[in-house]
Amino acid sequence: MRKIGIVFGQEDTFQWALIDRINGMQRPGITAEAVKIGGVVQGRPAGYAAILDRIGHDVPFYRTWLKQEVLLGTQVINDPFWGLADDKFFNNALALKLGVAVPRTVLLPHKDHPPRTNERSMRNLTYPLPWDEIFSYVGFPAWLKQYYGGGWANVYQVHNPQHLFETYDKTGDQLMMLQEHVEFSAYYRCYCVGREHVRIMPYEPRNEFLQRYQANHPPLTPALEERIRRDTVALCRGLGYDLNTLEFAIRDGVPIAIDFMNPVPDCERRWVGEENFEWILDRMAELLVSRAENPPPRGSFRTWEALLTGGRPL
Ligand SMILES: Nc1ncnc2c1ncn2[C@@H]1O[C@H](COP(=O)(O)OP(=O)(O)OP(=O)(O)O)[C@@H](O)[C@H]1O
Ligand SMILES: [Mg+2]
Repeated sequence: MRKIGIVFGQEDTFQWALIDRINGMQRPGITAEAVKIGGVVQGRPAGYAAILDRIGHDVPFYRTWLKQEVLLGTQVINDPFWGLADDKFFNNALALKLGVAVPRTVLLPHKDHPPRTNERSMRNLTYPLPWDEIFSYVGFPAWLKQYYGGGWANVYQVHNPQHLFETYDKTGDQLMMLQEHVEFSAYYRCYCVGREHVRIMPYEPRNEFLQRYQANHPPLTPALEERIRRDTVALCRGLGYDLNTLEFAIRDGVPIAIDFMNPVPDCERRWVGEENFEWILDRMAELLVSRAENPPPRGSFRTWEALLTGGRPL
């Protein structure tokens, strides 16, 4: 028997529907269930052929256990080791290498000293920062946002230098980036599964939360659709994500990648809508079953070398 396990956080529709969908496929020797795990003994596998991890980024216990699972031969989606590359600044730099358009972005030093550091720890930093240069590169309005994270936490639009300084002053020891504002004519969120299946979903970030997937954008031209698909797959292959959501703002017919570090994307039925929910359920069920039935050789999906040399798509 090959077991597929799901580890999850506060969400409450996707994991149960996915377990039902996989079990409903009635594949010989395959079952899916919610993971149960307690004190983890080193060197002892938990008995899963494949695991979908929806919470390890927030719970070090799970993340640490999942790294051992990879070592012991379990297929874990998304790869827990890949978390090392998870930051929005690195992601943008990689996107540039892959030929994907991204907003002009500057990484700023922490406003306050990080824990256990003081001014002696900061002697390599330029002070004051070359603000004029930064402002002329990024322009206003701009976005001040955390280098890591989701749920629009610590994402601020700033309109002028004074506004930026006031906002930056409140960011404490968080690591922030200042980013060019992209004025867009349409906006899309894309699921990407298994680094090949892409679902482009019209999205309107200016709507209320539950209405964001109800956007009335004009139909995509074939060329734009093709470009979004290409960029989506290139980013997921480069970043090593088997499941991700990527956001593109369309400006002058060009998709600008705004946020593509969502390795635990929204999959709640009520938020994404019935059709998108069904799509992600089917694709994830197929991917997990295929990884459980035919595990790819170890290492074949870990492409650090490709990542650092600008992407050699698998
Ligand atoms: N450079 C930008 N230009 C235009 N709009 C932006 C830009 N950066 C962020 N936004 C707006 O702010 C929203 C949140 O930003 P971002 O996606 O980076 O944060 P997040 O916390 O990762 O959000 P999510 O939970 O949706 O993944 C975006 O959906 C977009 O509407
Ligand atoms: Mg995000």
